Amino acid sequence: MDKVRIGIIRCGGISSNHIYGVKKLVENGCKEIEITALCDQNKENAEDKKNLIKQFQKNQPIIFTEYEKVISKKICDGFVLCLPHFLHHTIGIELLKNNYHIMIEKPLALTLKIGKKLVKEAKKRNLVLSIAENVRRYLGPRAIKWAIENRRYVGVIRFAHVNLVIDSPFDYTQYTMKWRGVKLLSGGGMIMDSGHHFSDMLLYLFGDVEDVFCEIRKYDERIIEEVPILKKAKADVEDTWVSLIKFKNGIFVNWVYSRSAPGFNLNFGLYSGQFGAIKDKGFVFHPFQNGGDIILKDGKIIKSEEIEKEFLNSLSKEEKEKLFPYNCYDGFGLEWIEFARCIKNGLKPEIDGEGGLKIMALCESCYESDCIKLPVKFKDVYSGKIENYQKEINNFWK
Ligand SMILES: NC(=O)c1ccc[n+]([C@@H]2O[C@H](COP(=O)([O-])OP(=O)(O)OC[C@H]3O[C@@H](n4cnc5c(N)ncnc54)[C@H](O)[C@@H]3O)[C@@H](O)[C@H]2O)c1
Repeated sequence: MDKVRIGIIRCGGISSNHIYGVKKLVENGCKEIEITALCDQNKENAEDKKNLIKQFQKNQPIIFTEYEKVISKKICDGFVLCLPHFLHHTIGIELLKNNYHIMIEKPLALTLKIGKKLVKEAKKRNLVLSIAENVRRYLGPRAIKWAIENRRYVGVIRFAHVNLVIDSPFDYTQYTMKWRGVKLLSGGGMIMDSGHHFSDMLLYLFGDVEDVFCEIRKYDERIIEEVPILKKAKADVEDTWVSLIKFKNGIFVNWVYSRSAPGFNLNFGLYSGQFGAIKDKGFVFHPFQNGGDIILKDGKIIKSEEIEKEFLNSLSKEEKEKLFPYNCYDGFGLEWIEFARCIKNGLKPEIDGEGGLKIMALCESCYESDCIKLPVKFKDVYSGKIENYQKEINNFWK
């Protein structure tokens, strides 16, 4: 295999980020990937993305409006799925059954039961199933993990408080928000959406979860018009929640969100340890993507830039090449090069199907806890023993 040939299925909002990620790799000398196909029912969207690809790739991808056609053409080794959540499993399974490797935008699927089907199918056929979880791959999150575990600036982490409180109702006139407002199509609201990045970072930093308590509110229950499949539906995903996540090592995380909170905004992420605290500098649902400053007990501040520099200096040439090949620091570019190399060399991605299920299980634990108004054991949600919230979705999709 010379270049790994990758197709993109659906060319909506996030596909541009993927293409810019590949552009950064190519500009830094990468010759390992070629985007050979773009598929979207909306041809204009695909044409737009083709124009982006023209800027850095000699051979132009072929445009398809039906995914069945691109499957039969055999011009791709694998596909990156930039689909609304309700299509992850339908198209994902179809691609796996046709022996294609896939990288699925987060979350893996609408429910754990559906996600497990995807994982089983990929395993059975020995295919790469990678989760496009970009946040942990940036320099900031990698450096903070190192600062906690290796440099041990703040000693043992004891707890974290992460609050995002805003007045920002979804714009349900936009297609991209219509499917996001309905549980049957999205699997859930922000807990499953940006919350996926947050859940992944918590698992990445703090390990296994013991139990989760969460209460959800839906203050915004507008009727959404022109919803895919359902035509008209009431917004029924959470717009507000308070949750408490307890890890097996004793760390507890208080995770609070509302987008129905006029008057005062909060975007606050504090991770508190024995000798000081780490303060997230960016959007707190993408932990440390823009770095984190450390404030020690004696008031000394270690700026994120300093931590990142120190972290990079600590890496061997091999470690640096593994984490940031082609000097690429873009989370999307990094997930693409990993996906391509996994296909080429038969490797396992950093976040494979099992990893995707674990992240989902943390998100689902929040929904399941709210459903029974009690804390839930993470292992019971992961195993499927508790699935009250997800049942309606499983029944709908049979
Ligand atoms: N990694 C991240 O940071 C990140 C960020 C955003 C989305 N995502 C994920 O990416 C996946 C896709 O999300 P997205 O935001 O790209 O979805 P999207 O709604 O923008 O696009 C999905 C599909 O809808 C079509 N579409 C878009 N606008 C349309 C319109 N006006 N009329 C008709 N069709 C239209 C697109 O062409 C595409 O086929 C989801 O799994 C999502 O969770 C990830």
